[in-house]
Amino acid sequence: MSALYGLLFTKLKLPPASAIHGKTILITGANTGLGREAARHALSLGAGAVILGVRTLTKGEQAKIDIESSTGCSNKVLVWPIDLESFASVQAFAGKVSKYVDDGGRLDIAIMNAGFASMEWAITGDGWERSLQANVLSTALLSLELLPVLLRSAERFPSSSSASTRPHLTIVASDIHRGVKFSERSAGSILSALNDHERWKASQGLGGATERYAVTKLLDIFITMEIARLAPRDERGDPLVIVNSLTPGFCKSDLLTREKAPLLLKVVQAAIARTVEEGSKTLLHAATAGVETHGLWMENQAVADPGSIVTDSAMVGVREKIWKEVVDVLREVNSEIRTEY
Ligand SMILES: NC(=O)c1ccc[n+]([C@@H]2O[C@H](COP(=O)([O-])OP(=O)(O)OC[C@H]3O[C@@H](n4cnc5c(N)ncnc54)[C@H](OP(=O)(O)O)[C@@H]3O)[C@@H](O)[C@H]2O)c1
Repeated sequence: MSALYGLLFTKLKLPPASAIHGKTILITGANTGLGREAARHALSLGAGAVILGVRTLTKGEQAKIDIESSTGCSNKVLVWPIDLESFASVQAFAGKVSKYVDDGGRLDIAIMNAGFASMEWAITGDGWERSLQANVLSTALLSLELLPVLLRSAERFPSSSSASTRPHLTIVASDIHRGVKFSERSAGSILSALNDHERWKASQGLGGATERYAVTKLLDIFITMEIARLAPRDERGDPLVIVNSLTPGFCKSDLLTREKAPLLLKVVQAAIARTVEEGSKTLLHAATAGVETHGLWMENQAVADPGSIVTDSAMVGVREKIWKEVVDVLREVNSEIRTEY
């Protein structure tokens, strides 16, 4: 009930222009929905550049034209390809960002926004259930790849490393995680259980059509907590990169209409959800929030309690176990990935 109240009655704000001005902001899944509107807001607030990470370049180029014409900004939108259902594509994208910074560009904010609410079973070319790979494994891979790039950029542009404007890695989670059953949590290998078709069918039966999507978004909160833990700190103990996550709240994007989501959910979405223009303000808020948000999850632009499925003492072990499993998978993709600083 309080979630509904917050959704309907919170007046969302954009960050001040001073928090965005001149910065380079990378947003995945930015050809449409919340990502595109966050990019538009960022340019309106004076961002130096926005990097749109998109899986289809033609859609990204259309978004660029749309954003440039509505903001009057030209030559500030970069459109780069990334498909989160392919580790090779994520690696190539991360390499491009790294080179951009090595060549003198800056990277101040990385928003891991791309994701989808798959209601059907399908396996990627890398052998993982699609949404598990895109929403979780690739999101973790890209986050770990970009963490050192954010640090390098902050060293090069010292103004961006002062306490109030240090770099941000922001992961777009959800509030749907609060309702998960997550029966796979007790499995010997949680990732293997999540990648088992028979178990998926049973879980969807138990938890409903959105169970898998909700589990992937729960795991995004876990990833945020773990990456925040490994972020290096300054002499005062403050993180050099602020890592946080958020829910934009229920928004009128294509997230559900493009999938075989239950009709009731689509009707509720049409009736009460935020516009993407409004909801995307939460992405920029988190991506400019202070050190007090490090490792935490935000709702309605404030640090919030993510619920017992995250905070219960029994879940600490589950979180640590799944993080270890995620890192093991990612080490197979890139043996040099850094998980310590
Ligand atoms: N809308 C909500 O109510 C809501 C609530 C809570 C959290 N969220 C989260 O907000 C984020 C943005 O969602 P949205 O509502 O804006 O949905 P959306 O309009 O469907 O946008 C999703 C974006 O992610 C991209 N994407 C999907 N799969 C991808 C892949 N494999 N590789 C690269 N990009 C991929 C899509 O690209 P294509 O257009 O090419 O498919 C699109 O740009 C998601 O992480 C979602 O879980 C949304």
